[in-house]
Amino acid sequence: MKKITIAIDGFSSCGKSTMAKDLAREIGYIYIDSGAMYRAVTLYCIQNDIIKGGDIDVTKLKKEIPNIHITFQLNPSTGRPDTYLNGVNVENEIRTMEVSSKVSLISAIDFVRSAMVAEQQKMGKEKGIVMDGRDIGTTVFPDAELKIFVTASPEIRAKRRYDELEQKGTPANFDEILENVKQRDFIDQNREVSPLKRAEDALLLDNSQLTIDEQKKWLLEQYNRVIQSK
Ligand code: DC
Repeated sequence: MKKITIAIDGFSSCGKSTMAKDLAREIGYIYIDSGAMYRAVTLYCIQNDIIKGGDIDVTKLKKEIPNIHITFQLNPSTGRPDTYLNGVNVENEIRTMEVSSKVSLISAIDFVRSAMVAEQQKMGKEKGIVMDGRDIGTTVFPDAELKIFVTASPEIRAKRRYDELEQKGTPANFDEILENVKQRDFIDQNREVSPLKRAEDALLLDNSQLTIDEQKKWLLEQYNRVIQSK
């Protein structure tokens, strides 16, 4: 069967990765979490004193970018890909509040974005890929055959992230998370390079009131519709 490219963009914590991962598994596609790549770069910056507080040593980061290698490997126990930074599994470390609170600053830097976009385009060369992020349908794969733009209210998204952290046993504060969600929405939508915006040909999905199963069904219908038209 012909393979297509599926781009899933939207606000942070609106369940994009869950839906993208599930869809990829269901249809046998590769799944790439592009946000994890920006998170891994941020972790690298924290580990190497490139970011201190809100200050970024841009010159050092530019020099280091070629030494930052991000890959994904399937974790057999979760059935989902884990993120590796220079060969080290950082799947949990990139989800901490420390990384979450700094990632918008790092992902707003133009040369960081161009390096990640080039990697993402390489990963999607053969199609048969589901990638989620902020600029996948607009910048990374503007020709993707299926584009979805996902949204949900900030409170619902903060609650989902809170539950996710609780489940992992990571201490979490709801108000702090809500503040972080709102702040990231603002930065993501207002940054100069590749701001978060819906591609004109993306389907809009507000999943505030949808269960995971309802969402899954909707997404599969969209995939089948596009595949049948090919
Ligand atoms: O999806 P996420 O919350 O893990 O993304 C982390 C950050 O990375 C988020 O603040 C926006 C940024 N990001 C981006 O700028 N472009 C992407 N394609 C994916 C994520």
